[in-house]
Amino acid sequence: MDLTGKDVIVTGGNVGIGRPTALELARRGASVTILGRNEVTCQEAVSQICAETGNNKVEYKVVDLASFSEIQKFAEDFKSSHTKLDILVNNAGVVRPPISTTEQGIEATVGINYLGHFFLTHLLKEILISVQGRVVVVASKAYEYFEITLDSLEGESPELFKPVEKPEVEQYCKSNIARVMYARELVKRYPEISCASLHPGTIDTEVYRSSGALYLCIASCMRRFWKTPEQGAQTSIYCATADLGDGNGGYFVNSALRAFNEKQINDEVQQKLWDVSMGLVKKFLESQGKNM
Ligand SMILES: NC(=O)c1ccc[n+]([C@@H]2O[C@H](COP(=O)([O-])OP(=O)(O)OC[C@H]3O[C@@H](n4cnc5c(N)ncnc54)[C@H](OP(=O)(O)O)[C@@H]3O)[C@@H](O)[C@H]2O)c1
Repeated sequence: MDLTGKDVIVTGGNVGIGRPTALELARRGASVTILGRNEVTCQEAVSQICAETGNNKVEYKVVDLASFSEIQKFAEDFKSSHTKLDILVNNAGVVRPPISTTEQGIEATVGINYLGHFFLTHLLKEILISVQGRVVVVASKAYEYFEITLDSLEGESPELFKPVEKPEVEQYCKSNIARVMYARELVKRYPEISCASLHPGTIDTEVYRSSGALYLCIASCMRRFWKTPEQGAQTSIYCATADLGDGNGGYFVNSALRAFNEKQINDEVQQKLWDVSMGLVKKFLESQGKNM
């Protein structure tokens, strides 16, 4: 699919799976904005992508998805220079974050992987809707191993978002359930936007960088069996460019629609998760003197 004239954002497009995703979308002619935290790898990514594709419409922005204020600033800047957004790839993520909470005091794994992207997409939704844009949510098969209960979303300070002393695999799994349910709910709430969530496979990236010695040791033994970042990007590229048909809102593995694991995916929890997340967004925006 030719993407000339299309505007694309790839979060975490500086390294890992995100870089070859951004590269392929640029190769097809899109104007690509990469978001990352590390300025050096962002610069390297832009140089590599421009050199390999001959497309100079590639830029980066340093944005920490653990900070609502940085996300807000980025979204406002982006909207002042772009009237539309055709494809938003919500790819950035952490397995074990180096910090325990986000700027808003949210548990960091859920806060970065899910809530930061929820807020980013919320702020960009008008310019996505204006062109019937596509949102791609990179998630993980890890969503199958835990559950988000209705109880964990109740109260003034819902348990799902509460900081834990040391984020464990449970927080990563829950952040991925939230991502998968988010993709389903987004297309219900905004039928003008199409969306897919996905598992990229097990990929040889630096995603385990803050996971401690045991993980790093396992990773160093196992990585020769893992897919390359280029292979890992294929489902993201497919979900960004294909006609999703009945797969709109669905979950993809190996560029094919995969049935949800029903135990984790529940309409009632999904709606509540959206409402509670929007409540957190609203609270922040009100603190900035802004209306929804
Ligand atoms: N690798 C796998 O086997 C695997 C399997 C299933 C799912 N996934 C998912 O695939 C996605 C990409 O992971 P990857 O394997 O490519 O990992 P990676 O190489 O570690 O890349 C992660 C990306 O996320 C960005 N990021 C992390 N924290 C951020 C924050 N607070 N604000 C902004 N950006 C942040 C990083 O930016 P900086 O480099 O600037 O920090 C980096 O660009 C993740 O969502 C991950 O959960 C990966």
